[in-house]
Order: sequence, then structure tokens, then C-alpha cells
Amino acid sequence: MEKIKLFDPVTDKSEKNAIKRILDSHFWASGAGGGDVQKFEEKFGKYTNSKSCVAVNSGTAALNLALSMYDIKNREVIIPSLSFVSTANAVIENGGIPKFVDIDENTLCIDPEKIAKVVSKKTKIILPVHFGGLTSNLESISKICKENKISLVEDAAHAAGASHQNKKIGSHGELVCFSFHPVKNLAMPTGGLIAINTNDHKKIAKILKEKRWCGISNRKGDDYDVKNIGWNYYMNEFSAAIGIEQLKKLDKRNLKRKENAKKYFEQISLEEKMPFDKECSYHFYWIRVKDREKFREKLLKKGIQTGIHYKPIHQFSFYKSKIKLPITEKIGREIVTLPTHPNIQKKDLEKIIKMVNKFS
Ligand SMILES: Cc1ncc(COP(=O)(O)O)c(C=O)c1O
Repeated sequence: MEKIKLFDPVTDKSEKNAIKRILDSHFWASGAGGGDVQKFEEKFGKYTNSKSCVAVNSGTAALNLALSMYDIKNREVIIPSLSFVSTANAVIENGGIPKFVDIDENTLCIDPEKIAKVVSKKTKIILPVHFGGLTSNLESISKICKENKISLVEDAAHAAGASHQNKKIGSHGELVCFSFHPVKNLAMPTGGLIAINTNDHKKIAKILKEKRWCGISNRKGDDYDVKNIGWNYYMNEFSAAIGIEQLKKLDKRNLKRKENAKKYFEQISLEEKMPFDKECSYHFYWIRVKDREKFREKLLKKGIQTGIHYKPIHQFSFYKSKIKLPITEKIGREIVTLPTHPNIQKKDLEKIIKMVNKFS
């Protein structure tokens, strides 16, 4: 029995050719390379209609760098707890305080009404996560940000190609962080990017580019200066070359994800499931089941891989606190993620739906 994978990068000849081109060029790092990193930044900027883009080597690096542009020391950054741990780690890494806020039970994105209740003078940033590629309520969140002079930074790790009110994700918040991990909608061996939309975007991009490579600035021949602390976060040329090819096919592949999600939405008999929204990028599709372990085991026996996204961050030892997030905690116990990637065959999708309906 062939296993149906939860995630699977979609590639064809063009990615293979791109890898060979970079391999043969002998310029694998960015900077001295053939310029694919810069090309990818320009193309992704055009695609998302953001003002500037800075490519890095992971979504984690994008979040760490983005938050390093604000002075968040002893200030709060409002985040959901139902996310990958990098969302919260980036706050700690930059000396801030993660302020976990509960989610909306229908979208599993952070709930603006609950944000409004905890915003205070200590709040510096609101950092929503577009969960599974379904976008957070950006109008309400932007309104809260404006009224309280707070910055909006987005975790768009799941949302490459998603839109919000006909505007691509990447064009809304001050800084928008993407991940191009191999399981993501736009897949690279490893990669991430910060889209910038501030009026001083050129200045921000320049600083971010210095910070992504150890703070090195003012390079003239062999001479350079270091004005800021920086890290080794630059994107390599292989990732960028693959990313350029993946970007060309992103809309088409997201359309396939949407078709798969629509079938799940229409044919899965459970009430508790991810809504259908044509602007969503459907990184995965979630359902909620009561006896999750048994359910997942039965599906696995039928060759269907499922996932848990995520164990809530505030329940990890490092983050443990007295805070109660009832919806997040309930979802954390019940959520199961199903594959949406374009490699799933029609018969496999039908099998998944049939088995979900049988065992849930
Ligand atoms: C919501 C979210 N944020 C951040 C990240 C971090 O991205 P990366 O794995 O590229 O570091 C991920 C990756 O899984 C994610 O799902």
C-alpha cells in the first residue's frame, strides 16, 4: 500500500535544471553568486505587491530579523499560541514578552475582540498567524494597531499566494514573514523572506540585508564595516533558483490545493472543519475529532498520513504559565491536519474523505 503523504513538495524539470545551473556556476552563496537571490526578491515583491523584499534562510530567521527592527525589550508582542514555536521564540530572542491571545473557533486565527481586551501601553506589536493559509481578520487588527500606535507584523509562513480582500498577503503589514521550508506552498530546500511595506522600506531593507549576513556593511573590495549585530541568515543561490521556478507555478498549484480543500469542505460530514475561502492558500486542511489518537492510527493503517498543527506554545515547558486559552487548548486536543498538496491523486483524495467519514 502506497502511503499518502501529509506534505510533499511539487517539482518538475525546471527545478532540476535550476539546481544544475547553480551547481555548475560554482557560486552557491548569495553575494558573489549569479544574482538569483536578488532576482527572487524582485519577483516575489512584484507578485505580492510589497514595497521591498529581503530573502533569508528560513521563516524562523525572517521572524527573528523582523522583530529585531523594533525595540521590544520588556514590551509585549501579541501572538496566538496555536502556531509553530518560532512565532514565540522570535519574541524572546529579541527581549520581548509573548502575550498569548486566544483564537477564533471558526478560523483558528487570533481573535481581534480578545486582542482589544489585552492591548495596553506595554504592547508594541501584534503578530497574527494566517493559520493554514486562511488569513487573519486584518481589518480589525489594523484598526487596533492604528488606534493604539502599534505595529503590525505578520507570520505568513502558511500564506504564500493567499490573498486578503483581493490583495496578496505580503502587501498589508509593516513586515510580513514567509517560510519556504520544503513542506510549504512555495518550497525550497530552506528559505524565508521579509516583505516590507513601510514608507522607509528602502532603509529597512538595507539594514535587514546587513543583519542577514553578520552585520557586514559598506563593502568596498576587501574592506567593510559592521554597524549592527547580525547573523548568518542569508539565502543561498540554490534555494533562490528553485524559488524562482516555484513562484511561476504558485498560483496554479494553490488552485489545486483549493480544489482539494473544497472537496473536503463539501464532502467531509464533520461539522468541525476548516471553512472554505477562495482567498486561502490551504497549506493544509484541518478537521477536529474527539478521539484523535485512535482516529489517526486508523487512518495511518489505511496508508493516510495526518498531522497535529499544533501543540499550543503556551503549554510547552519553556513557555508554561498560568494563562488559560480555552479555545486554543480545546483545538490543541482535537485538531488533525489533512494533506492538500497538488501531488495527491483524485482516488487518494476520495479515499481520505471516505476514511475520515468512516472513522471520525
Ligand atoms: C506558522 C509558522 N511560523 C514560522 C515557521 C518557521 O519557518 P521555518 O521552518 O522556515 O523556519 C513555520 C514553519 O513551520 C510556521 O509554520
